[in-house]
Amino acid sequence: MMLGDYQEIRDMVSKFADTEVAPLAASIDKNEKIPESIVKQLGENGFLGSYVPEEYGGAGMDYTAYSIIVEEISRACASTGVLVSAHTSLCVYPILNFGNEEQKKKYLPKLASGEHIGCFCLSEPNAGTDAGSLITFAEDKGDYYEITGTKNFITNGKEANIAVVFAKTTKTDNYKGISAFIVETDTAGYEVMKCEDKLGIKGSSTAQISFDKVRVPKENLLGTLEKGFGIAMNTLDGGRIGIASQALGISQAAFDYAKKYSNERVQFGKPLHALQAIQFMLADMSTKIAASRLLIWEASRRKDNNETYSLQSAQAKLFAAESAMWITTKAIQVCGGNGYTKEYPVERFFRDAKITEIYEGTSEIQRVVIAANELKDLK
Ligand code: CAA
Repeated sequence: MMLGDYQEIRDMVSKFADTEVAPLAASIDKNEKIPESIVKQLGENGFLGSYVPEEYGGAGMDYTAYSIIVEEISRACASTGVLVSAHTSLCVYPILNFGNEEQKKKYLPKLASGEHIGCFCLSEPNAGTDAGSLITFAEDKGDYYEITGTKNFITNGKEANIAVVFAKTTKTDNYKGISAFIVETDTAGYEVMKCEDKLGIKGSSTAQISFDKVRVPKENLLGTLEKGFGIAMNTLDGGRIGIASQALGISQAAFDYAKKYSNERVQFGKPLHALQAIQFMLADMSTKIAASRLLIWEASRRKDNNETYSLQSAQAKLFAAESAMWITTKAIQVCGGNGYTKEYPVERFFRDAKITEIYEGTSEIQRVVIAANELKDLK
């Protein structure tokens, strides 16, 4: 795709985000639910299958376009942004990348249109950052597997129709023996146990899911048996670009609001932005936003060009997430006491930003990945 295409996509998504999503963001946060009408429109606009090829019902764009979509939607509403990101990066992508032709034909069209929503079941109550220690087991029963275990913190878990699930097919005490499966969530034994009551991204469901002897046909094994950990890691490399884009969208929203407020609010007989203390905060916010966007574009560009991108996606997520925390904190500072109240949106941006330093790999894990990539030539 060309630079002009990306600008056209940004304009289109931005218009949708401003007119359809942003006006509902406060009520999505308060009511802890994204209206179905929004999900329907996301699908109709091609935002849930942006980089799925047209032959599988997608919009045929690339990962750079996808990152712009997530950024713009997250600028309006971070809960809606992560619905798009978890669905697309963590469910659509592994099926597109590791699925066989039958699986792609069967699952991608409905995921791309939004008729089906996807989730990614890796984390468990005792296997978060140490994902390789998961204990959910898929027992080989001849012509099907039977999956039993508990998955935690599953974004879109409540709404999902399709789950990419990681389970051991051989019991090990490390990542070896993990396989990946495509699971239809209406299968008997799949049960949403609870949804977390969270600090932020309150409109996005974060579910605990129980698998009680869930029967999965053999043909739903995703990729090669016992190569599931690599599938999860590769998927998260792309997912981290999505979360970096979500963080960037939150940062942009916080900056835009702080800038507007600094123009409207008069103290000492002048708008706030006449004060250099405020200008410096706005200048640092603007610089961190620009740097986050360039890191995201570089990671996306490399992914689109089939170059390695683990290092760049970890850098993008680390920097964009920590910037989002810094920028939303400063946005509240610019807005002072007003910014601390729920009458103003900046406290929501602040609450929404925090999770970007945690899910799809904490900031500490991004540093582990970055250091491992930078140091590997010394071995
Ligand atoms: N791509 C493909 N394969 C990879 C990979 C990558 N980026 N990174 C590692 N692998 C493979 C390795 O090649 C190796 O496989 P082989 O033995 O077949 O060669 C295997 O994975 C293990 O590699 P390492 O020894 O390097 O990995 P590790 O055991 O040291 O763990 C880790 C690495 C970085 C700590 C990893 O466990 C990790 O990323 N943890 C964080 C997990 C995470 O992000 N969890 C978030 C959950 S998802 C989520 O948030 C859900 C949601 O809904 C939002």
